[in-house]
Amino acid sequence: MKSVFITGASSGIGESLAYYYAKEGATVGIAARRDDRLKAVEEKVKEYGGSPVTFQLDVSNQEACKQAADQFIQQTGVIDILIANAGVGGTDKLSSGDASAINKILSINILGVTNTVIPFIPAMKKQQSGRICIISSVAGTRGLVGHGGYSSSKAAVRVLGDSWDYSLSRHNISTTVVFPGWIATEMTAKHQYKMYFLMNSNTAAGKIAQAIKIGKRKYVLPWQWRIIIPIFRILPRRLINLFSV
Ligand SMILES: NC(=O)c1ccc[n+]([C@@H]2O[C@H](COP(=O)([O-])OP(=O)(O)OC[C@H]3O[C@@H](n4cnc5c(N)ncnc54)[C@H](OP(=O)(O)O)[C@@H]3O)[C@@H](O)[C@H]2O)c1
Repeated sequence: MKSVFITGASSGIGESLAYYYAKEGATVGIAARRDDRLKAVEEKVKEYGGSPVTFQLDVSNQEACKQAADQFIQQTGVIDILIANAGVGGTDKLSSGDASAINKILSINILGVTNTVIPFIPAMKKQQSGRICIISSVAGTRGLVGHGGYSSSKAAVRVLGDSWDYSLSRHNISTTVVFPGWIATEMTAKHQYKMYFLMNSNTAAGKIAQAIKIGKRKYVLPWQWRIIIPIFRILPRRLINLFSV
């Protein structure tokens, strides 16, 4: 039976991925902070034919992540797919004089990934197999106005994934970095502006799972962003201001 561990499984993309793998009959490790939401996801994972293993976990807590990884591997004996999906958005609050908001984003989105992935590496190396997926963002391809913390966190995990792939591929461990555009989740529900090419999170989960399955190193979705990103990267600075959200 396939064994999959997903952070940020209490809503959005992570929740949809949990159901995707549940339908394949997998053992699904579901991790996030909100206990009530996790319980609801746990029930649905069972309904869909999966076996949930639930962890109330803050990914910025290194020790708790290590314990969760150890417990999951002890229970399942193997880790096939690990998805570091948990993340938060938000603005830099640049003029507040207080670095707390930006530091929280950087900590959850970057250290949350290292805390999640590293504890699973020894087991993957031992079994000489495994698929790691890191959820970055198209926002990580350039510093977005007002969202330097979020953009840089997503750029950082892209580079981490790139580097880890060199070291791990020789052990038959693939690393897939995913760059979603706008996906309809709690994170985007509050946006007032028009979100072009907005994709449903279940559709996104199916596409992400497929990219992981074939060991794609980089995966951008929806497809329109594959055309937009190279243009966005070379856009003059004065036009970047148009993307002030
Ligand atoms: N939606 C988009 O358009 C979009 C685009 C590009 C990239 N992304 C990325 O996709 C990932 C999933 O986001 P989403 O859109 O599905 O948003 P979401 O519905 O808000 O989901 C975020 C998930 O992360 C979890 N999380 C947040 N902080 C956490 C922490 N400290 N410890 C453990 N879990 C934590 C949340 O659960 P708890 O609150 O219960 O902990 C929740 O399950 C994020 O990394 C996001 O940056 C999203």
